[in-house]
Amino acid sequence: MKTYLVGGAVRDKLLNYPVLDRDWVVVGANAEKMLALGYTPVGADFPVYLHPTSKEEYALARTERKNGRGYKGFSFHASENVTLEQDLSRRDLTINAIAEDSAGQLTDPFNGQQDLTDKILRHVSPAFSEDPLRVLRVARFAARYAHLGFKVADETLALMQVISESGELQYLSKERIWQELERALGEKSPLVFFQVLSESHALERLFPELKALLSNLTSISSQKNIELEPRLQSLPTAGQRLAWLFFIAQQDQASADLIANVQTLCRQLRCPNTVHYLIKHTATGYPLLSLWASAAPSAKLNFIQSADLLRSPLKVAPLLAIIQALDYREVFKQQDYLAKFSQLLKQLREIDHQALIKQGFKGAQLGLEIKKLQLLHCENS
Ligand code: CTP
Repeated sequence: MKTYLVGGAVRDKLLNYPVLDRDWVVVGANAEKMLALGYTPVGADFPVYLHPTSKEEYALARTERKNGRGYKGFSFHASENVTLEQDLSRRDLTINAIAEDSAGQLTDPFNGQQDLTDKILRHVSPAFSEDPLRVLRVARFAARYAHLGFKVADETLALMQVISESGELQYLSKERIWQELERALGEKSPLVFFQVLSESHALERLFPELKALLSNLTSISSQKNIELEPRLQSLPTAGQRLAWLFFIAQQDQASADLIANVQTLCRQLRCPNTVHYLIKHTATGYPLLSLWASAAPSAKLNFIQSADLLRSPLKVAPLLAIIQALDYREVFKQQDYLAKFSQLLKQLREIDHQALIKQGFKGAQLGLEIKKLQLLHCENS
């Protein structure tokens, strides 16, 4: 039995990139041997075990064959006789198919080191198509390493187009898509993820609500000579970045369609409530803030209340950061709208309910009086 470090850990070590987690492959073992050595099986689906002390993942060398649609349409074969080269050949990219033994010796049957030097994301074999999630993975790696000059190989892009057009992407689970999207949004060049998906003909199929994203970005940048990517990069979380991108992609929609499309996107992606919140309230907050001076006091108050900004002050900064990053025309900046908005929130929070109670207001009357004062502040803001 022999163990090798494989996948991302070897790739990132060779790139001098931080190694976040380590995966191992075990050749010449079987389930009984692993259990006898104290490894714990991870799940019933794959022959993967956790090391008794390091808890790192050790997978038995295996071959895979597709025998149906989607992620579950797989059969795999793991036995003591599966070689390291056979295991490496079922992997997605040449740069992910390099193994390192305990002496630091590399096994690299698909010239992954050369592709690392040439900065090429190239698939190992036609078996790449067996897992359509790889279309998203390649786009994500392109987003991660774009600043180093990495590009997708022409033949890999062609294969990604075939996968997209085959309809296989629709069999991916929503959870796996969301996981890849969330990770891609956190990469150094998230826009590259969407560019590669678009070139692969996958963008419209996976995220129809974002299909106008790239053309809108190009037209904004070329008309106004504005650099948009640093604005996106200024947002720290995946949810904020998605809200920003959604708004750019949907900016030509009428407001009723915009709200309906927020619902569709979030339902499709099954994104967490925190992300749904950011997308929804950016879609109403941004247009409102752009017309702040002429907006109706009731519209201002509705937005503040429906986004729960009075009771939950921690929600304010992440939402305003997106709205500010969308203000590429710098309208709010010139008009000081964000400062006015923050001032209004402060005034609304300072309305003295106790003083009104002392004046004799109670029940529904007290509610009406508070609302009157709130609307007055909104009008003067
Ligand atoms: N792999 C694959 N196809 C997939 C998923 C994984 O071929 N759909 C293989 C690749 O060899 C990959 C390895 O399994 O390098 C480990 O996968 P994972 O941990 O998901 O990714 P990493 O390559 O380690 O990348 P990351 O840094 O994003 O974790």
